[in-house]
Amino acid sequence: MTLTDSPRLIHLRRGGTSLIARLNDDDLPTVLHWGPQIDGDDLGDVLTALAVPVGDSVVYAQPLVGLLPLHTRGWLGHPGILGSRGGRSWSFAPASVQHTVEDDEGTARLVSVATDPANALEVVTELVLEPAGLVRVRATVTNRGDDGYEVVALEPALPVPAVADELLDMTGRHAHERAPQRHPFRHGRWTREAWGGRPGHDSATVLCAGESDFGFRRGTVWGVHLAWSGNGVVSAERTNTGWRLLSGGEKLLPGEIVLAQNESYSSPWVMGSWGDGLDAFAGRFHEFLRARPQHPSTARPVILNTWEAVYFDHDLPRLLDLAERAAGLGVERFVLDDGWFTGRRDDTAGLGDWQVDADVWPDGLGPLADRVHELGMEFGLWFEPEMVNLDSELARRHPEWVFGTANGPGVPSRQQHVLDLGHPAAYEYVLESMSALIAEYDIDYLKWDHNRPLVDAGHSPSFQPGVHDQTLATYRMLDALTSRHPGLEIESCCGGGGRIDLGIMEHCARVWVSDCIDAHERQRLQRWTSLILPPELMGTHVGADHDHTTGRALDLDFRAGTAIWGHFGIEWDLAVAAPDDLAHLGEWIAFHKRMRPLLHSGTVVHADSSNPAVELEGVVARDGSEALYRLSVVDHSVEAPLGRIQLPGLDGARRYRVELVDLAVSSIRPDGMPDWARPGVTLSGEALTKLGLATPMMNVDRSTLIRAVGI
Ligand code: GLA
Repeated sequence: MTLTDSPRLIHLRRGGTSLIARLNDDDLPTVLHWGPQIDGDDLGDVLTALAVPVGDSVVYAQPLVGLLPLHTRGWLGHPGILGSRGGRSWSFAPASVQHTVEDDEGTARLVSVATDPANALEVVTELVLEPAGLVRVRATVTNRGDDGYEVVALEPALPVPAVADELLDMTGRHAHERAPQRHPFRHGRWTREAWGGRPGHDSATVLCAGESDFGFRRGTVWGVHLAWSGNGVVSAERTNTGWRLLSGGEKLLPGEIVLAQNESYSSPWVMGSWGDGLDAFAGRFHEFLRARPQHPSTARPVILNTWEAVYFDHDLPRLLDLAERAAGLGVERFVLDDGWFTGRRDDTAGLGDWQVDADVWPDGLGPLADRVHELGMEFGLWFEPEMVNLDSELARRHPEWVFGTANGPGVPSRQQHVLDLGHPAAYEYVLESMSALIAEYDIDYLKWDHNRPLVDAGHSPSFQPGVHDQTLATYRMLDALTSRHPGLEIESCCGGGGRIDLGIMEHCARVWVSDCIDAHERQRLQRWTSLILPPELMGTHVGADHDHTTGRALDLDFRAGTAIWGHFGIEWDLAVAAPDDLAHLGEWIAFHKRMRPLLHSGTVVHADSSNPAVELEGVVARDGSEALYRLSVVDHSVEAPLGRIQLPGLDGARRYRVELVDLAVSSIRPDGMPDWARPGVTLSGEALTKLGLATPMMNVDRSTLIRAVGI
């Protein structure tokens, strides 16, 4: 329905979220409430009740700030739109705005079309409220003038209330992604930018603002995530006029987007969630993702990935032996990692030459791929389609396909550069080479890697910036491959977890969380990645007993007990693993297979443990009928015994049988076994959630599993 009264209110409700906005016929929508659902239908005098006394100037008072904050409406903070025609038309001011609301079934949508004839610009904002209570916003600008309009920034914003006085986001580095950082939400602007053509290993992932000391189960928290895999920004801005905004958008390079007449540019979607605690915040993302038609609907096959098993040592007998051992343990998908293509004996050469190396694989990949299929496993293969080594046939033949500037291709990283997929011939070459191999070897799965940031990424020969084009070309190629090869699944890897975002997840079946598979680090990595992704979309592998990236030695129960929660796999040379370990690993695989229907569909929960050395997280069935928890000791505790641990997320009214899972009982110290553990106890969900259980005593870097089954 198109709304004509002005001003008027709309109230959208989905999934426990209310979104109330003020609509004016010459303004973009102003969100007055985004958060807990308000049940009554009568908003009565809300507009009058919330009208702010302005004194002598809206510039000082700023009573209304729209989805795109506009200087022309008195906003003095970071503008929601920036752009110009060579220094003109830079001050967008809607003369009229037409609002259309769809609020029937499924998603609710508010589309506002704002026209500014004086500047020959049209701006559309879209706000979508998903059934999960997740809100998405984006903006589109169209140039109606006859000369070019350069877009500099288009960053929609959502307001949060004044109780949100603490910020949380992530930072990190390669093999140490998603380290949380928190600080007070003060006046000014906190921005997290990505300039490497991908969210990066230090990706904010989310930018949350919540009540002080909000945790997984306590404190109301709001936050945004940018669903985009190229350059981007998320920001939190608090002004002296009382506004607290969370916003996001793409970072554009100079001259990157210049719109000709009637051309449009859309910002990426900014995804907003809220919850009483981070579990509820994350739950809306999980529910949203799980409802998508492309969400994996089959059991996630247990993987063996060859990387940390053999690295570049591609030797057919050795790999066949690995495949046999993997199949014997119950592995369901065998993935041949880096090292199989022409000239790729180490990481200095070969990227771009997507043909099987005839020296190392004289009979092609057939002998391996066929055997893997015969053993009942799927066959997967590693690619890095957006990359090129200067030491490759591809770069020698087509230097113009390598991104660069007037100063050349820029600094290498991991000895490699970036191939310009915005170049149609380069795109075709990569797509066709990959497609031919997928068809020839009946490949079921691709691990799609991305190991160099995009710096100096200019199209040759003009050297105009190409990061935006590259991001879209990557999405296009991912889709082309999955539509050409039905059933093909693609993993987004980026030197581990450098490209984890809901943009890439539109096209991929999982992410590689990190190149670090040390279980101690992985517990943190998985916890914070799960703020946006449910477990089934996260690749989680068991590595060798001495971790390759940290050198830490960890026992198998801790490693496997950490990896079973996600899309489980192994990255370990099984030929050198101790026979006892192998047998035990087989038991963990079998356990994972029994539990994955629960782990990959239930609600993810975390306890706010009062003892920082103790962590508990779990998955509770959506109907509350059962749950599995992992209790870990991750540091030396200054307190002993370890106190109580609450089991979150259970149905308070139900009774549960609670016991330890046999497989992981040996992690508990003989003197630390609590009475409840043998033979288990029966308690109400309410007692388990509010009173909890005495924590078993374990040494550092040990975990055990607790199962609660409704009776
Ligand atoms: C990246 C990936 C690893 C592995 C190597 C291969 O670092 O994150 O998992 O595939 O490349 O070179």
